[in-house]
Amino acid sequence: MNVLFLAPNYPPEMVDFTRGLADVGARVYGIADGPVGQLGPTVQNALAGYRQAKLYDRDATLQAARSFGVRFDRVECLWEPFVELAADLREVFGIPGMSLDCARGFRDKELMKQRVEAAGLRVPHHARAHTADEVRAHAERIGYPIIVKPIAGAGSADTFRCNSRQELEVALGKTQHVREVSVEEFVDGEEYTFDTICVDGRPVFHNVAWYRPRPLQARSNEWISPQVVVLRNPDQPELRGGIELGLGVLRALGMGTGFTHMEWYKKANGEVVFGEIGARSAGGHLVDQMNYSSDVDLFREWARAVVWKSFEATVTRKYNVAIIFKRALGQGRIRRIEGLEAYMAKYGKYVATEQLLRPGTRRRDWKQTLVSDGFVVVRHPELAPTLEMADEFGENVRLYAE
Ligand SMILES: Nc1ncnc2c1ncn2[C@@H]1O[C@H](COP(=O)(O)OP(=O)(O)OP(=O)(O)O)[C@@H](O)[C@H]1O
Ligand SMILES: [Mg+2]
Repeated sequence: MNVLFLAPNYPPEMVDFTRGLADVGARVYGIADGPVGQLGPTVQNALAGYRQAKLYDRDATLQAARSFGVRFDRVECLWEPFVELAADLREVFGIPGMSLDCARGFRDKELMKQRVEAAGLRVPHHARAHTADEVRAHAERIGYPIIVKPIAGAGSADTFRCNSRQELEVALGKTQHVREVSVEEFVDGEEYTFDTICVDGRPVFHNVAWYRPRPLQARSNEWISPQVVVLRNPDQPELRGGIELGLGVLRALGMGTGFTHMEWYKKANGEVVFGEIGARSAGGHLVDQMNYSSDVDLFREWARAVVWKSFEATVTRKYNVAIIFKRALGQGRIRRIEGLEAYMAKYGKYVATEQLLRPGTRRRDWKQTLVSDGFVVVRHPELAPTLEMADEFGENVRLYAE
């Protein structure tokens, strides 16, 4: 099996997906922006061939793909901006897998909501807008508070909550560079994910994670140490509505084989509302968290699903798994870490991995990367202690930069 895998080394988790493809016996060909020398040893070992080309340039990518001189059986990509490009290449080469039209449904937030809504599922009231006047008109019709966000966004970038006309004017000023926006009813409630690996549209693996707090809040306040908690029991009654919604969405959008990452909201009155979905794996180490929850290797199982349409891991859910991202206080380089030793002494046996930036390292831009200045992952069979450990890390471990 020859698999063309776009972006085999970035974002960082792609390294493991590339390795997974090789693990299941595929011959893996990669295309990405950087020179071959920049690929790490894991990717180098996993690849049968590599070409450097700008993925933003369709023709260059197509040419690079042809230059391998092999017949591909699969074309895959798990990096959001190029999921459509992979579908495009599949159509050009006549390879089975998700069509371009289907991929667009997973990428264009308006088209996505139209398709989900047409299936009778609850989406936020929404509209597409190209001009400031269109946004204003939709806002009046939908009613405040509203959300304004790019049609093809990621990372909560340029996403604004507006409680009033005045706040909308401020947001319009900040979104002038965005060609097309979604205007949505603001849905108040808790926010969860629904992640799957599907084979021919049927989930062979599923997962629910809980955002604490909601991503927009986490992305708007630097003092927050955002948490994402993989729930040990995604099949509990409290989450059933979200899972049913998720299964409906997969059908509505015509999911085939691969990873999906959906976000959904649960209102105080129990109503569940669709957020968004991607035909790709979640970022921010969520795949690692899922692996820690059941001691499985979903990088490899995703590969097995796309290459062989099978899933062989035994998923025995053992832990709730929380990741806590840290933002340092101050600017510049990390100078010291406080509270980590005491934390590790107390909870070390529950810590799956600790990857805080060490003193001397330059701070990351917390607005650009969810991972911020590092993170810890804790796991426990029960939820309450998991949350307690997560909160304590947020409160008692501090990074200082200057
Ligand atoms: N209609 C809405 N009601 C309430 N909150 C919303 C709504 N739309 C977006 N948000 C908030 O903004 C966040 C970002 O929105 P969304 O997930 O659509 O964009 P994104 O840029 O693709 O995000 P990411 O890549 O971080 O998942 C959501 O996680 C949620 O917290
Ligand atoms: Mg999102």
